[in-house]
Amino acid sequence: MATTQIAIDGPAGAGKSTIAKLVAELFKYTYIDTGAMYRAITLKAMRLNVELNDEDAFDFLNQTSFDYENGVLFMDSVDVSRLIRSREVSNNVSLVSSHQRVREILVERQRAIAHHKNVVMDGRDIGYNVLPNADFKFFLTANVATRAKRRFLENAQNGIHIPLEDLKNEIIARDDFDSNRTITPLKPAEDAIVIDTSDMKIEDVVKTIESIVRGENNHENESSARR
Ligand code: DC
Repeated sequence: MATTQIAIDGPAGAGKSTIAKLVAELFKYTYIDTGAMYRAITLKAMRLNVELNDEDAFDFLNQTSFDYENGVLFMDSVDVSRLIRSREVSNNVSLVSSHQRVREILVERQRAIAHHKNVVMDGRDIGYNVLPNADFKFFLTANVATRAKRRFLENAQNGIHIPLEDLKNEIIARDDFDSNRTITPLKPAEDAIVIDTSDMKIEDVVKTIESIVRGENNHENESSARR
């Protein structure tokens, strides 16, 4: 059976997960939030009190299970979707996700989940590394001020209160770390369509993606990552 894979990459706060979830609902595809996996193992490593700098301390990953149900991540059969959004996890996840062993194991799991399924998968390296043959590749961007404001509002909804300026600095630090790590850093695939969402409503980004997937786009808000 032919399947369709849609890859959505981009920095923190560009709207990836909200948009990916809506696109998945629209097409009735499985939504896979790969950032949630990196967050979940960061949470587990912190609970186990392992040295986060030490790549060899992550052997527990081989005994860790991940399942997605309706876009919600269950680690070791427990719904961790709220806990993985904590500030401590957010501030340590870049470090954990920079370890080669961690990435190898998680990328393998991500590919296995996407096998034989129609998926919308979001992350940092999906289009050029996890699913290089994806049918559609999008790279969402937005300016830092917009992204910090979105995170602020999202946090408020989840009862998390972090000052806007702090969020802005944390986002800049995380972007820097994610873009400059040596192993599969944050970057668009060469054939990704780049969409700047700074001044766009969520539904307009979804419509843009929908029309491209349906083959009826007018190329208004997007540009190609290929130079
Ligand atoms: O999308 P997010 O903010 O929940 O992602 C959390 C972290 O995980 C982010 O700082 C970078 C990392 N990540 C990654 O390295 N590769 C992915 N495919 C997804 C996330």
